[in-house]
Amino acid sequence: MNEKDAVTSRRKIILSGIQPTGTFTLGNYLGAVKNWRHLQEEYDCYYFVADLHALTVYHDPAARRKASRAAFALLLACGLDPEQSLVFIQSHVPAHAQMGWMLSCLSPFGDLSRMTQFKDKSAKHPEDINAGLFTYPALMAGDILLYQADYVPVGADQTQHLEFTRNVAARFNHVYGETFRLPEGYFPKAGARVMSLQEPTAKMSKSDENAKATIYILDDEKTILKKFKSAVTDSEAEIAFREGKDGINNLMTIYSAVTGKSLDEITAEFAGKGYGDFKTAVGTVVADELRPIRENYARLMEDKSYLDAEIAKGAERAAHIAERTLKKTMRKMGLC
Ligand code: AMP
Ligand code: TRP
Repeated sequence: MNEKDAVTSRRKIILSGIQPTGTFTLGNYLGAVKNWRHLQEEYDCYYFVADLHALTVYHDPAARRKASRAAFALLLACGLDPEQSLVFIQSHVPAHAQMGWMLSCLSPFGDLSRMTQFKDKSAKHPEDINAGLFTYPALMAGDILLYQADYVPVGADQTQHLEFTRNVAARFNHVYGETFRLPEGYFPKAGARVMSLQEPTAKMSKSDENAKATIYILDDEKTILKKFKSAVTDSEAEIAFREGKDGINNLMTIYSAVTGKSLDEITAEFAGKGYGDFKTAVGTVVADELRPIRENYARLMEDKSYLDAEIAKGAERAAHIAERTLKKTMRKMGLC
């Protein structure tokens, strides 16, 4: 194979990050991380714990340190293979902060002001509207562009940041010369949007105050079954996916995402059965799916030296790859 063929037939690059804020939910797993696992077969995958992004909201330092390690362990426990993919913690690779600064100098104030997440978060924490919260999209653009990612799997809430990234990349290429590949969003067919078990019109979220609304990925079997048992449904008695049946729709979505069965198959499977039976069935498949993750996680958290070694290895490999684009960017900007 000549060099040109090698370049054109290269595997495409997938990159995504997740903030280490709170334990992952079933929504994070079914909507994101489970798909990340499958993508490893087909793509070169880079996945990281976005701890620099989490700095924009105050956390106790000890809790933060623990949360980043735990998030890293959870990614491995969910099946991300550190031999096959690059899994790392963002702040351990200094190029992210360096790139973030350079790109913030090409980030228009007006564009940053229009970011929905900035408006939402600053409305939520009016006492702490810091500059990091404002320039967050420039940091995120750096994360993506450093690795010349082709595709970025993100939820709907991040598509605005991805568009911002493309704009910054295009502006940089225009001003300083061709440097960055413009990334595209990746929206998997199987990506489930999981809703709250108590208020099924709202997204299942890490920060829900009602503990019964959210399945955490480390919940034990008993807790999972109990939460599904008390899931809000409707007053009919038909397991079918249609408008107005938000609770049942959500349970069907979850059951489908875990088992791979279609909605029609599920309707047939539960024809004539009551909601109680259905809830138990959903709880059981979810508990079965999450059990090995919980066990892997416990094993990883006990093996401190293995985890430390994987964290260090991930950072070293990521730094090596990031360095290439960082140096190129610095050269183009006249910094070296
Ligand atoms: P977050 O927890 O908001 O930092 O999101 C991390 C990743 O999980 C993003 O790709 C989100 O789109 C995804 N995600 C978060 N909550 C859900 C949910 N309830 N359903 C599906 N995907 C979700
Ligand atoms: N901002 C993303 C979130 O809150 C996390 C993130 C940071 C990210 N950098 C990224 C996602 C780069 C994809 C690519 O969910």
